[in-house]
Amino acid sequence: MADVVLGVIGGSGVYDIDGLSDKRWVRVETPFGDPSDELLTGTLDGQKLVFLPRHGRGHRIPPSELNFRANIHALKQLGVTDILSVSAVGSLKAELPPGTFVVIDQFIDRTFARTKSFFGTGLVAHVALGHPVCNRLGDLIEEALTELDIPYRRRGTYMVMEGPQFSTIAESELYRSWGCDVIGMTNMPEAKLAREAEMCYATVAMVTDFDCWHPDHDHVTVDAVIKVVVANAGNARSLVSRLAPKVAGREGACSQGCHTALDNAIMTAPGH
Ligand code: ADE
Repeated sequence: MADVVLGVIGGSGVYDIDGLSDKRWVRVETPFGDPSDELLTGTLDGQKLVFLPRHGRGHRIPPSELNFRANIHALKQLGVTDILSVSAVGSLKAELPPGTFVVIDQFIDRTFARTKSFFGTGLVAHVALGHPVCNRLGDLIEEALTELDIPYRRRGTYMVMEGPQFSTIAESELYRSWGCDVIGMTNMPEAKLAREAEMCYATVAMVTDFDCWHPDHDHVTVDAVIKVVVANAGNARSLVSRLAPKVAGREGACSQGCHTALDNAIMTAPGH
């Protein structure tokens, strides 16, 4: 089993970590084109970390134009075994107010304008996705959030929309009627590709707004999202710092099989 390397995909507030040493921004080329930006590598308490600004530094790339395959490939090339994905989301539940961190365990993927697989004609694969996130990594995240006293909810369904416009009230109510907990634009196909790349992957969704369904709250705006993201950046950084040594100390192979996801997934006959 290769050494554990923690990858973090997130916004600007997440990678200015106190105590991160040997910092280096690295340009990585992939067969799928360029990732969102250079990746920041460093060491924290002896644990190697790799950060990828999902939208590029300065937030230049909209969700539908993210090169998800290049992003995951670049992390894999740098030896990342476990990915913590941090993203801002709207809340679809009254009991999940802004500032809550939700450790996601399910997704509904309603995106339609993105390339969703490393496989295709010539090599056909169908990975299992019943449990789309790594439970072991989720447990470590939960431990870290508890120790830090950050308000969180374990488990939640993340509805992934195409965007870039926010939802209508009718759409927001539809997703609520489906039992979804939060809504965002970025975690698919990221999670699917991480599974195809045989990496452990977990999402921490940071609630920034009540989308547009709540009668007592303003409809979501970018200004409101940014305000909450900035206010919670310290919590996101603390989570990464607290999580790093836990990931470093974890057992080798993932019992859920994230690291062997392709063993039973290739459909194409050998030699064809
Ligand atoms: N990101 C943050 N808030 C959001 C919302 N309400 N809808 C979609 N993406 C979001």
